[in-house]
Amino acid sequence: MKLSVIGTGYLGAVHAVCMAHLGHEVVAYDTDAAKIAMLSAGSSPFYEPGFDELLGAVLATGRLRFTQSADEAVSGASVHFVCVGTPQLAGSDAADVRYVDSAFKAVVASADCDGLIVGKSTVPVGTAQRLAAELAEASSPHALEIAWNPEFLREGKAIEDTLRPDRLVFGVTSEHAEKTLRQVYGSLIDAGTPHLTSDLATSELVKVAANAFLATKISFINAMAEVCDVVDADVVLLSRALGYDDRIGSRFLNAGLGFGGGCLPKDIRAFSARAGELGASDALRFLHEVDKINVRQREKAVAAARSIVGGDFLGKSVAVLGAAFKPNSDDVRDSPALNVAAAMHLMGADVRVHDPKAIANARKRFPTLSYFDTAEDACRNADLTVLATEWDEYLSIEPASFRSVVRVPRLLDTRNVLDRQYWSDAGWQLFGLGRGGPTA
Ligand code: UGA
Repeated sequence: MKLSVIGTGYLGAVHAVCMAHLGHEVVAYDTDAAKIAMLSAGSSPFYEPGFDELLGAVLATGRLRFTQSADEAVSGASVHFVCVGTPQLAGSDAADVRYVDSAFKAVVASADCDGLIVGKSTVPVGTAQRLAAELAEASSPHALEIAWNPEFLREGKAIEDTLRPDRLVFGVTSEHAEKTLRQVYGSLIDAGTPHLTSDLATSELVKVAANAFLATKISFINAMAEVCDVVDADVVLLSRALGYDDRIGSRFLNAGLGFGGGCLPKDIRAFSARAGELGASDALRFLHEVDKINVRQREKAVAAARSIVGGDFLGKSVAVLGAAFKPNSDDVRDSPALNVAAAMHLMGADVRVHDPKAIANARKRFPTLSYFDTAEDACRNADLTVLATEWDEYLSIEPASFRSVVRVPRLLDTRNVLDRQYWSDAGWQLFGLGRGGPTA
């Protein structure tokens, strides 16, 4: 099938590459010249494991092109995927849907045949219905229809999540739209991917409800971590014990610095704001508490670090391992790790940051922090080491030899991932969040 993809950010670029990999002919459009040039040359504007290899492979087949011309992308295509961002509006919790609106307008203006416009962006519920009404008003000579097909990919696992998704959701208003989406995803459906067909509003809600649930699960265990700290209990053991219950499950139950990134924090706020607009704010009031618990974890980490170094950061050197909002990503949007690093810096600490992939992005956001190319350089003569993003590289640090790098062998493991016994046997004092006192 001939597809267009509007927007080549994280979602759009991955979607375009994966659709071409599945055998479709894809032309992806973006207004950002630099992004288009990089992608066309086979290099990725972001770090995502496996992406560069797949991009190179599909470019070589000739099934994928990138362009700055909406006309070139849209003309001749029968399905148009809208993959643009919906950032938080300045001065508000609501989502800014202006890029979605202009993407739809661009498709309508450039369409030269009948087609299906498929929204993949995360939007306030009701957006698809509004766009469908606007489309009915528009005077296109071609039969254009709207569908919604939310995206559930995670950064760091984006290719896997797109080619082997947990489920596909088709929000449609006609049998034709459903049939078209079944055709697009034919090979995934044949491989047994669960797929559901719904109305437009339900499909929009599935996405924000899923992110709200994940955020709630993380904040639940972080609330338990707060209680554990009060009674000297261990949240890691608590989480493991809870996770054995199939009804609860162990995934997304890791207590620590909490959630960040461009999705979970923004999406729960936008969902609450939308509920308010719809007169349903009571239903989602708990999400405010979820948000508060999450932000509190960052404050608690800073307070723990300050108390470990003796109550005052002035004159203290603190190494921060990790800047990305999670491992296997170079994304630093609303990164808990950088937030904690910046707060300690403001309180007078000499903060030395390392990250395997996110230093360039971190430096743009927080230019006053010091950045180092290796974990060892960042930790040299540190009074405290803070593990803030659980990259594999940090999990394989050998504590006995690393001891000689730092001034004081003290480590605050804000992700609760290190083997405490192993580190304390090597002479380190290990602290966590929600784990009671230090190991030694
Ligand atoms: C999230 C969702 O997981 C995806 O399904 C969704 O498609 C995506 O948002 C989106 O809306 O586009 P992502 O933001 O890439 O994906 O990252 P997650 O893996 O969900 O992690 C989010 C944050 O939660 C990270 O900061 C991570 O460190 C934190 N986290 C995760 C915890 O603090 N504890 C956990 O147990 C799990």
